[in-house]
Parts: sequence; C-alpha cells; structure tokens
Amino acid sequence: MIKRTSAERAVFDRFSKRYELGQSEVMRSIERSVCGCDYGATSWTTVAEARVITDILALRPGTRLLDVGSGSGWPGLYLAGEMGCDVTLTDLPITGLRIALKRARADPISGICWGCVADAAALPFRHGVFDAVIHSDVLCCLPEKLDVLKACRRVVRDSGKMVFSVILIAPDVPADAYEQAQAGGPPFIASDTPYPELLRQAGWQITDHRDLTADYQTTVTRMLSQLERHADEIARLFGDADAADQRARRRATLDALDQRLVRRELFAVVPAQAPSTDGR
Ligand SMILES: C[S@@+](CC[C@H](N)C(=O)[O-])C[C@H]1O[C@@H](n2cnc3c(N)ncnc32)[C@H](O)[C@@H]1O
Repeated sequence: MIKRTSAERAVFDRFSKRYELGQSEVMRSIERSVCGCDYGATSWTTVAEARVITDILALRPGTRLLDVGSGSGWPGLYLAGEMGCDVTLTDLPITGLRIALKRARADPISGICWGCVADAAALPFRHGVFDAVIHSDVLCCLPEKLDVLKACRRVVRDSGKMVFSVILIAPDVPADAYEQAQAGGPPFIASDTPYPELLRQAGWQITDHRDLTADYQTTVTRMLSQLERHADEIARLFGDADAADQRARRRATLDALDQRLVRRELFAVVPAQAPSTDGR
C-alpha cells in the first residue's frame, strides 16, 4: 500500500466531507447553477465541457469508460447515463463512490456501472481493458502525476483514448509570484515537468489541447457569488471556518487568474505509436 503524507490525507478528508455535504439541497442547487449538474462535483467540469468529452471519445453503448478520481460520479456516471456506455468509477475515499453507486441504482442507466476504491497511480485492472479514460482536475490533486498517466496508459487499449482537464501554474510565472500561483490553485497544482512532456514519457500522443482558462474564470466567479449568497446555510453545514475558507480559496483563485498565474487546460490523447523498428 502506498504511504500517504499528511498533506495527501488532508486532501482526501476534505473531499470526503465535500462529497457527503455535497448531497445537501443547498450544495446541489449551487452546483446546478454553477456547473449545470448535481452530482456533488468537486472539479470545474461543466455540462458543456462534458459534452466536449463525449464528442472526442465518441462514447456509445458498449464503450468501456474509466473515470479516474471520479468522486461522487461526475462526470463519468453522467456520461454513462447520457450515452449508454459502461463506466468504472474509481477514487480513494469511499465516500464519493458510495454516493455514486447509490445514484447509479436510482438513475435509469442502460450500461453497467462498477465502483472501485483504487489508487490512480496503481490501477487494479488488466492491460488494455478500457476503451476510454477520463479524469477531471485530478492530476492537480495528487503528487504522482507521471505514475497516474502511465497507469492510465496501461489499462487503455492501443486504439483507445483519454481526455482530461487539469489546473496548472502558467509556464512563464515569475519566481516571486510562484507562491501566489500555488495558493490560487488546487493542493498539488505544481508540476516540475510540463504536461506535454509527462504525456510523452507516459506513452501518450496529444491529439487536442485546449485552453479552458476563460471558462474556469467564469465558473469560479459564479461559485464565489453563490458561496457569498448562501454564506449562512453553508456555514451551518460545513462550520464557520470551513465556509470562510471556501470563499477565501475562490478569491485566491480569481486573483491568480486575474494575474494570469494559473490556467486550466484540456488534453485529448491517444497511445503513442511504437517507434518503427524496420529503419523507416
Ligand atoms: C477535483 S476532484 C474531482 C472529482 C470528480 N471527478 C469531479 O469531477 O467532481 C479530484 C479527485 O481525485 C481524487 N484523488 C486524489 N488523489 C487520488 C489518488 N491518488 N487516487 C485516486 N483518486 C485520487 C480525489 O479523492 C478527488 O475525488
């Protein structure tokens, strides 16, 4: 078993609490007005972005989709419901997965849905068993980014695809603004190696790369305004300190976005072709 640092354990505790309380009526209504869904999402993936993912992956009945770090089912379970594909949901805290599996039983889903407590860096599946892999803002919530990209490559078939979003520190951030950039993003936003290079090292080839920063700014602005509007209810639910912390983190993100210190990007990738061995 991988030994977790206290920073990583704190991330899992925070997500678990978010998934539990994300099922409350106030949080679901905030999520509907911010992202257009009500799964208890903790990424910044909106319904519009979920449609982009669907188009790129050409999901249909029979497609075997893996959602890594799926939390309480967003967007994997939603995509399975819309497109009729099968979905496997994985995360480390079990709290979100339980909520997702309950919803999978309640919602009309024609495909098959599995849930699995699994480390994204050590996925417990056979080689090449999935047609498509997704993850939404997961790599910026964990330190082992390359290991996760390698694990995803191992479990997808050679003609499969992966689409993911990630929040990152802008490449040209000056050294004296780096701390502010870090404070404005998710817990493991920093990456020593740029994502295109990590993808190359993990055996992926980029087919589409989009800048989602403007949408991210819009979504975070909406979220902050909802957190301010429902401040009392959220404080009753999460506690005063947590509610204030949520607002402070959104403000820090918006400051960092205003100064172009952080970005949110989407990558669509396919397994890289093995180098030719016949000298051509
Ligand atoms: C930003 S949330 C996204 C959750 C969900 N996909 C969504 O869109 O709402 C990141 C997720 O990654 C999960 N995660 C972080 N580190 C992980 C790891 N090493 N293995 C599996 N999941 C991990 C967290 O528990 C969390 O649920």
